Amino acid sequence: MAQRVLTGITTTGTLHLGNYVGAIRPAVAASKAAGVESFFFMADFHALIKCDDPARIAHSSRTIAATWLAAGLDPERVTFYRQSDIPEIPELCWLLTCVTAKGQMNRAHAYKAAVDAATAAGEEPDAHVSMGLFSYPVLMAADILMFNAHKVPVGKDQVQHIEMTRDIAQRFNHLFGAGREFFVLPEAVVDAEMELLPGLDGRKMSKSYDNVIPLFEGGAQALKDAVARIVTDSRLPGEPKEPEGQALVQIYDAFATPEQRAAFRAALRGGLAWGEAKQQLVALIDSHIGPMRARYAELMAHPEQLEAILQAGAAKARALAAPLLQQLRAAVGLRPYTAAASHTAAKAEKAAQPVFKQYREADGKFYFKLLSAGGELLLQSQAFEQGRDAGQWVARLKREGAAALAEAPVQREADEAAISAALAAFQDD
Ligand code: TRP
Repeated sequence: MAQRVLTGITTTGTLHLGNYVGAIRPAVAASKAAGVESFFFMADFHALIKCDDPARIAHSSRTIAATWLAAGLDPERVTFYRQSDIPEIPELCWLLTCVTAKGQMNRAHAYKAAVDAATAAGEEPDAHVSMGLFSYPVLMAADILMFNAHKVPVGKDQVQHIEMTRDIAQRFNHLFGAGREFFVLPEAVVDAEMELLPGLDGRKMSKSYDNVIPLFEGGAQALKDAVARIVTDSRLPGEPKEPEGQALVQIYDAFATPEQRAAFRAALRGGLAWGEAKQQLVALIDSHIGPMRARYAELMAHPEQLEAILQAGAAKARALAAPLLQQLRAAVGLRPYTAAASHTAAKAEKAAQPVFKQYREADGKFYFKLLSAGGELLLQSQAFEQGRDAGQWVARLKREGAAALAEAPVQREADEAAISAALAAFQDD
């Protein structure tokens, strides 16, 4: 199976140059590689968590969609959609919510940050926490698991959410898979570049620092105005300048060839004025995004084209999501009453779990053994005079899992991994 790569962008703002360099450009490039199936979407359900301004959400979604396409995303090749056009996602989100431990969500960074901020302000810990914010990671897990993505390119702040997705997937597989793995366990891909593009003031480019260079919004003039505000040192024209550590140079690097980078540095060391350098930076950025800006303007002027592309993307996405959701519904017990032999199926599911068997031998002594889901012998106990003692060991192994193995009076009949996995199955029952 091809490697599936999936990422979403929350639709609460417009995109800036840092988003382009850190997320969009590498994602578009990666989507062209052979053996990769890419999924990109506007995370507009997620936007509702952070924003209660409908006009802003609608506008943001449209600009982000137009930006992806203008940046060269080929909607024929990739699956490009709006999260809210896929009703299977919130439905999966509910199935996952029902197997997600609240305690785990309590530990989510975004939730903890909201609680800390409220506490620091002398308010109730949950004063600004909606259930949407609290459950945010589960919705994200549904986004990812719905399409069984292998790789998820994200910023560092999102890595914890991918770890939670893996836990949720594992738990669902274990509880309802009956030996099948419904979900692939995804991996976060954190692009080092993602963190790198500095903003006007040298800190990471971010809306929250108000230091961004807009990507398309405001056209060529807005680009020029923003670049003019990049902070430099106060060296005068003609004075030699140290390029390293300058935000201006780092932004230049993000668009330059190695030759251009070397030439730019040499010119600054030779006394190039900052004003001149800024003009060169504008020209360089514009040579990359100028042509895209035209396509962006065209898509923004023709919402019906954009809408048609997204409807086609939604159909493609749902063709994958709907059959998987059908299987998941059946697995948890949401089945038509006419579904054949549902009782027999339930029995088969039971049989597909590891089991402890306690028994008495002809020697009059008591024993237990652990069998895998497939019936293979994993652990064999020694003989006990009392049945109760055997029972207590079984209870302890179920409760403590592999941790109790070192002390348990048992013979290991299979490899460690198989035994631990089987014991783990008892613990979350
Ligand atoms: N939470 C992500 C962000 O704020 C956006 C997002 C939503 C996402 N669903 C996702 C990213 C699924 C990757 C995969 O950046």
